[in-house]
Amino acid sequence: MAFKVGLLGLGNVGAGTAQILLDPAERHPLLRELEIYRVGVRSLDKPRAVEIPPDWFTTDLEAIVTDPQVDVVVEVIGGLEPARSLILKAIGHGKHIVTANKAVIARYGDEIFTAANESGVYVLVEAAVGGGIPVIQPLKQALSVNRIHAVTGIVNGTTNYILTRMQRERGDFDDILADAQRLGYAEADPTADVDGLDAADKIAILASLAFGGRIKLSEVYCEGICQVSAADIAYAERLGFVIKLLALAKRDTCPVSKEQLDQLQVRVHPTLLPNNHPLASVNDVYNAILVEGDPIGQVMFFGPGAGEGPTASAVVSDILNIVAALKTHRAADKNSPAALNPLLACTHQHYCEISPMSELISRFYVRVLAQDQSGVIGKLGTCFGWHDVSIESVVQIGMCDQMAEIVVVTHEVQEGNFQRALTEIRSFKEIDSIPSLLRVL
Ligand SMILES: NC(=O)c1ccc[n+]([C@@H]2O[C@H](COP(=O)([O-])OP(=O)(O)OC[C@H]3O[C@@H](n4cnc5c(N)ncnc54)[C@H](OP(=O)(O)O)[C@@H]3O)[C@@H](O)[C@H]2O)c1
Repeated sequence: MAFKVGLLGLGNVGAGTAQILLDPAERHPLLRELEIYRVGVRSLDKPRAVEIPPDWFTTDLEAIVTDPQVDVVVEVIGGLEPARSLILKAIGHGKHIVTANKAVIARYGDEIFTAANESGVYVLVEAAVGGGIPVIQPLKQALSVNRIHAVTGIVNGTTNYILTRMQRERGDFDDILADAQRLGYAEADPTADVDGLDAADKIAILASLAFGGRIKLSEVYCEGICQVSAADIAYAERLGFVIKLLALAKRDTCPVSKEQLDQLQVRVHPTLLPNNHPLASVNDVYNAILVEGDPIGQVMFFGPGAGEGPTASAVVSDILNIVAALKTHRAADKNSPAALNPLLACTHQHYCEISPMSELISRFYVRVLAQDQSGVIGKLGTCFGWHDVSIESVVQIGMCDQMAEIVVVTHEVQEGNFQRALTEIRSFKEIDSIPSLLRVL
């Protein structure tokens, strides 16, 4: 008996998913045991990229998630509602869920996974992070025997495309964003991408899997790329760095107790990366995720972070995992309730503790515009020293609007100390402004 898929949404990802399911030749043989049973959409009149019999379509998505025939519900409608309610309703009706919706999982993962565990169903989310790049399943399975130290990713293709073009063309952010929108690489409303919100959703999901606890999205520090200027990119290059929007999750300190084990840093911000860092050469719309752990060392996942085909590949791989688990259970004992496979299900229920940014230890890059007079650099150095901020280099780059342009790079310092020093520096009468402040990896 075939396993029945209820597909919610037939846009980019939905159509890509249907295309794989309808054309199983030369793919995994288990795909032949799957059938699309219903397709839920908003409009029945829209022309579709994939040929699907008209009687499979419905605009009644609730009827799909409550239909006793459906085994797996695939949610690819996007947005928060009705996606969240449909997922919860489907779980309530004993359906397994596959979703590409990072926004829903990052915000409502708690209630969704709790409900799924209570109902004994799977919720798989491979496509929610990194598009076609398999990273969720490796974190749950192959890498799960490691003690993970850090997950660092370029997980938003739009911002990586913009920063790559700013680097290559020395262009300004606004011009390149407008061009990216014209070419379809950025949304008409680019806020979720350029403000780092999409990357924050994704790192919350990755951190939860890597560190075995739930993450409150509101505690994820998030800074976008709007303030990155062509000047910063050029100065960073002179210092041997590229600027990337990084999403990071790291264990904070050397653990001595269970509590401290869960102290994490989870943050998104533009970062100066040394040219020889594995993520420094990840350009254009590509995504990459670097996982560091013990004893594996470093592993990097690289590939297309979005797009119809790649994202559908991740969606269908999740469907396949669920069907494999269901098939094993059906073969073993049809009458007893299935135990969830702990390598597929969500097994943690507590929240990780996220350290405040003021405790972060990092290197910083700061660009200061000051009056061109003697003693300013010395005054900056003294102020940083008072606040325990050790400086690696101070360079007067040149003149900008009749002001001396000074770039300071610090050693690893505590963010709180650094911010206190900057507050004092801003009050100096010689200081015109501090146009950029970026973290350095
Ligand atoms: N696109 C990507 O490359 C990509 C990559 C990774 C993850 N994702 C995630 O995948 C999900 C889907 O993205 P997408 O790009 O495929 O979106 P999309 O092209 O906008 O497609 C959305 C589909 O859902 C249907 N839909 C939306 N709201 C509905 C409602 N209230 N009732 C019934 N049907 C509704 C639409 O129906 P109509 O066709 O009738 O309008 C459409 O078929 C999102 O969560 C997104 O974040 C996308």
